Amino acid sequence: MDEYLTIALPKGRILEKIIDYFSKLNITIKEESRKLDYFDEENKIRFLFVKNSDLPVYVNYGVADLGIVGSDVIYESNFELLRFATLPFGKTKICLAGFEEKKELLEQKNFQTFIKDIKIATKFTKWTTDYFNSIEIPIKIIHLTGSIELAPILGLSDFIVDLVETGTTLKENNLSLIKELGLTEVLLIGNNSRYKLNYKRIDKLVEILEKIY
Ligand code: PRP
Repeated sequence: MDEYLTIALPKGRILEKIIDYFSKLNITIKEESRKLDYFDEENKIRFLFVKNSDLPVYVNYGVADLGIVGSDVIYESNFELLRFATLPFGKTKICLAGFEEKKELLEQKNFQTFIKDIKIATKFTKWTTDYFNSIEIPIKIIHLTGSIELAPILGLSDFIVDLVETGTTLKENNLSLIKELGLTEVLLIGNNSRYKLNYKRIDKLVEILEKIY
């Protein structure tokens, strides 16, 4: 059993929670500032530190056996990936936010006469498109990958669809949470072919992970 199990982890604020979670299994993940992987020699696991939105790519192409990432990111990726477990942290709300005074654009009576599509800036372009299609409100998507809150401030969009965790970013930019649209959760995902080769180790890891809920 010399081969390493490769697990892709997302860089950013959730990484700390993941490291803490694995530490409960006595698996130590050492993250050095510019190093993009870490070999846990004892457990024969190689951890990759990758950009959140890229993570499903590594798993989809099988260069990572497993990955830990938000359900929103998987949804955007369009890949068919195995879902082994929902982890007990990182649940976050997907929200529509913007300036209070723009709220009326979304009301049905105004919407009937509204000639321009409502502009929504987001990194969740697929999720947002599907959501507004489902409630039959036409929108125009403005795709951004970060600092989304700037869009309504600069007049680039009417609203944003983004994750809201503590609400601090909205508050500090004088924006309001207009509506909670959905929820994201953190999932342990895997690649089907890699699972077939490594199912014993993966099943064992999933079983242990589920015990620390
Ligand atoms: C996320 C999200 C919001 C912020 C919300 O951004 O896109 O901007 O966190 O969190 P809060 O409600 O606790 O303030 P992230 O920090 O991942 O950076 P980004 O702007 O690059 O997306």
